[in-house]
Amino acid sequence: MTDGDRVLLEVRDLRIGIKGHPAVDGISFSMNEGEILGIVGESGCGKSLTALSIPRLLPEAALITGGSIRYRDRDRNRYRELTALREGELRKIRGREISMIFQEPRFSLNPLLRVGKQITETLELHGERDKTLMKNRALSLMQSLGLQEAEKLLPLYPHQLSGGMCQRVMIAIAMIHGPRLLIADEPTTALDVSIQAQILELVKKINRETGTAILFISHDLSVIQAVCRRVLVMYAGKLVEQGPVGEVFTRPAHEYTRGLLGSIPGRSSRGRPLTNIPGRVPPIEEARPPGCPFAPRCTAATLPCRKTFPPEISVGPGHSASCFAAPEQTGPEKED
Ligand SMILES: Nc1ncnc2c1ncn2[C@@H]1O[C@H](COP(=O)(O)OP(=O)(O)OP(=O)(O)O)[C@@H](O)[C@H]1O
Ligand SMILES: [Mg+2]
Repeated sequence: MTDGDRVLLEVRDLRIGIKGHPAVDGISFSMNEGEILGIVGESGCGKSLTALSIPRLLPEAALITGGSIRYRDRDRNRYRELTALREGELRKIRGREISMIFQEPRFSLNPLLRVGKQITETLELHGERDKTLMKNRALSLMQSLGLQEAEKLLPLYPHQLSGGMCQRVMIAIAMIHGPRLLIADEPTTALDVSIQAQILELVKKINRETGTAILFISHDLSVIQAVCRRVLVMYAGKLVEQGPVGEVFTRPAHEYTRGLLGSIPGRSSRGRPLTNIPGRVPPIEEARPPGCPFAPRCTAATLPCRKTFPPEISVGPGHSASCFAAPEQTGPEKED
């Protein structure tokens, strides 16, 4: 982190419970303005719940049970505690400042509404009335997002578009207000590999050209590597490692991250959970023993691992891990 970086989002000790079970269990991280931060981990580790808690779009069963999410507001340029905002205030932030794209663009779009209307609707929702302005904004945005002959697409319905085009439309909806934070939850998992690459390039272009920060979730490490600057590794509701992508992937400090990396060579993991590590992520209903949740699957686990969750230690510049086996870095290079 350099001095010029400004923190956009600061999540501290976030806890999310589902019917009394901890699904996200005390995670802390921050995000700078304009950065692309990845979250990786196997299915069920709490990636989506973490992301959905930011604009408070959690499923009904899920509750934020602790911690804080501080967000730097565009207009007032001060930090606001999102977990404490009233629904009405949050509605002003959602879509306008923080927007989302999901895995299944077809399911996220309204099948009964024309594409053009769906893009301009979010402008209307935030008070815009000028129809020509809205249409022109939609057209120029669609063109910049690689939707050719955008004018012809406006009257079409989602089922008349390909999966890749639907995702571009979703991105247009998410980007129309020029948000400060775009949350992308597995946005390419449901797409063909060639389309996937195009969308990833588009995500990077958006970040480059608009400076919108992107929280990018994927269980495909090669996708994270291609898109993100920093990455958070989650396991069973805990944050087990975080740091610059190059660092984490070349010098993984947590046994879980090592295990995930061991599953890259097959490259067949796209769209499926990573399964090369023997065992499975425990379901949240299962009583979690004390200590590191990965210990039962970890070949390096020792007695302390089964007793206490390891504290987060620095293992390199901007790189930390919660693992008793991680080589702690001390000395002048240490960065918090
Ligand atoms: N609506 C819900 N009702 C019950 N349990 C849920 C609900 N949503 C999530 N969970 C549970 O919470 C845990 C974390 O879910 P989450 O969706 O955040 O995982 P994820 O890391 O995004 O997984 P995936 O890679 O499969 O998308 C999982 O055990 C999941 O089963
Ligand atoms: Mg998910």
